[in-house]
Amino acid sequence: MSGHIPVPERVKFDSENLIQSMDDWQRIHAHSIAEPDDFWLNITRKSIVWDIEPSIGLEGGFDTIEQESFKWFSDGRLNATVSCVDQHLKNRPDKVAILWEGDEPGVVRRITYRQLHAQVCRFSNALQSRGVTSGDRVIIYMGMVPEAAIAMLACARIGAIHSVVFGGFSAESVADRIIDSGSKVVITMDEGKRAGRTIPLKKTTDEAIAIAGGIDTVIVYQHTANPVEWNDERDLWWHEIIENESGEHEAVIVEAEHPLFILYTSGSTGKPKGQVHSHGGYITYTAFTHRTVFDLREDDVFACVADVGWITGHSYIVYGPLANGATTFMFESTPLYPDAGRYWDMVERHGFTIFYTAPTAIRALAAKGDDYVHKYDRSSLRVLGTVGEPINPEAWEWYHRVVGEEKCTIVDTWWQTETGGICISPIAPATPVIGGSATLPLPGIQPELYNAEGELLKGKAEGLLCLSQSWPGQTRTIYGDHDRYLQTYFSTIKNRYFTGDGCRRDEHGYYWITGRVDDVINVSGHRMGTAEFEAILVESEMIAEAGVVGFPHDIKGQGVRAFLVLAKEVSDEESLYLSLNQLCRNRIGAHAKIDRFCIIPALPKTRSGKVMRRILRKVAEGEPEKMGDISTLADPDVVEAIIDSNCHYV
Ligand code: PRX
Repeated sequence: MSGHIPVPERVKFDSENLIQSMDDWQRIHAHSIAEPDDFWLNITRKSIVWDIEPSIGLEGGFDTIEQESFKWFSDGRLNATVSCVDQHLKNRPDKVAILWEGDEPGVVRRITYRQLHAQVCRFSNALQSRGVTSGDRVIIYMGMVPEAAIAMLACARIGAIHSVVFGGFSAESVADRIIDSGSKVVITMDEGKRAGRTIPLKKTTDEAIAIAGGIDTVIVYQHTANPVEWNDERDLWWHEIIENESGEHEAVIVEAEHPLFILYTSGSTGKPKGQVHSHGGYITYTAFTHRTVFDLREDDVFACVADVGWITGHSYIVYGPLANGATTFMFESTPLYPDAGRYWDMVERHGFTIFYTAPTAIRALAAKGDDYVHKYDRSSLRVLGTVGEPINPEAWEWYHRVVGEEKCTIVDTWWQTETGGICISPIAPATPVIGGSATLPLPGIQPELYNAEGELLKGKAEGLLCLSQSWPGQTRTIYGDHDRYLQTYFSTIKNRYFTGDGCRRDEHGYYWITGRVDDVINVSGHRMGTAEFEAILVESEMIAEAGVVGFPHDIKGQGVRAFLVLAKEVSDEESLYLSLNQLCRNRIGAHAKIDRFCIIPALPKTRSGKVMRRILRKVAEGEPEKMGDISTLADPDVVEAIIDSNCHYV
């Protein structure tokens, strides 16, 4: 196929992957779609440890989604952590399970499977001793230390449902999640570390609890050992509660559909959605996709440099790699600390064979020049992955040519919090890649494109990306709001899962994700709802109305632009913007920053009062000529004023 880059020898050599060629892909993909039960039952029986093996694949499906939710492996019983830790005690007890590097280069911990098992068991016993039990929700608000993974696994092991909150989130965001999940326990740490700074996680936890209430136990892992405020009635040190606990613990066996965790995502409306994943389906899907896409081998050192606070960290630092008995890397720092060579220095020191990161990091590093890469030996690398946002051709080329020296393959993996694992992606040893395309669906995944009128598009086309049948890794509901789940994912196109993404299919059947088509912006791979920003901005007495949209940003992928209608005359614009950004930081977190503020006389509204966001979006994207029909606006003159508006970068 012209333009496609064949798989390099280094990648194909000695592969034992289920799919090693495009012929394999054709055959296996076709079978998985025609007979999903057969396909997935086989996969799960081979790779996952079940207490009672399932005999049922999928029960229900998208066609009956309005009457009843679908289930996977519903008559099976297991605990996902048995696959992640116990099963490896036999074959690879002394293999490194978690390889951790701290904020400072060279500060390293290695935890073998035997040690991981003992630590997870000890903490599971400690949780149970404190009365935490199956079905309880537990908030985990930690930085990138191995104990974050241990806490996740220990919760799962006793049947409790963890909800990890990214360490950059503010007290108010943590509080929202405590309230929505109805958690009584928070696991946190004294402080996180990042690029030489400390992150006051315990302090923020205290503030969140003061807002939310309802928490009776806070378990604190000691990391920096700096002093923290202490509440004797509520707070417990991690090291103290595990002291007398046994390193053996029998996992609580649950039904396949028992919730494993809740992870909150932003959507088009203000309130974050608690996505619920389940034991049987999620562990099957993450283990399968991790092994297949990256072509995992026994001696691989797998480095996914995401944060466990996001789905990428859940699926491809913790659950997928551990279920596969891999050595998985956890990284506390940032790609630019102490300088732009950090990743490649670690490739050389730790011998990473597979490296998985986000386009925003690739762009930031490419901007610092090639010398930082060339300085280090990267010959151990075989597969390079990217995730989180569309990758632009320049960044892809740089990753391929400079980092991988054209000897590695690049897997551009498309997926979402809701999909649990990778859905559209090259399979390392099999798929000829082309920069910018996520290429082809994995087994079990059937993408479809629809136009705005809801018509199915065939062949070469561009439209709304839907998936037409269920796969095991899918979220089952939004915690506490199943109607919202149905409304968000299954109503745009009837009986189809709508992803919220736009997508193009080329003449070879390859998929090219074009970005979100709803009101979600993706800043450096962080997904945020425009409505979240808007609700915060109008809390200011200075702001009458606000419209927030994304705009193309060289490093971050998208930046955030706010159009403001003032309620009062402003004397000092600069300090207004600073205070608005402070408000966003307090409400959402450190990653929520508006880059550009524009004062406009009015929002573009239809005669019925609906904001035509398309107009703001096109102006922000620098393509006002493409805003289309504006004849339904109540006041078409407002468009000129928006185009000419006075904007400030901050
Ligand atoms: O818009 C797509 C984009 O990230 C969204 C999902 O965000 P989140 O749930 O936070 O999960 C991110 C990590 C899986 C998608 O709807 N996205 C993710 N991967 C890609 C992507 N866009 C283009 N190409 C990708 N490879």
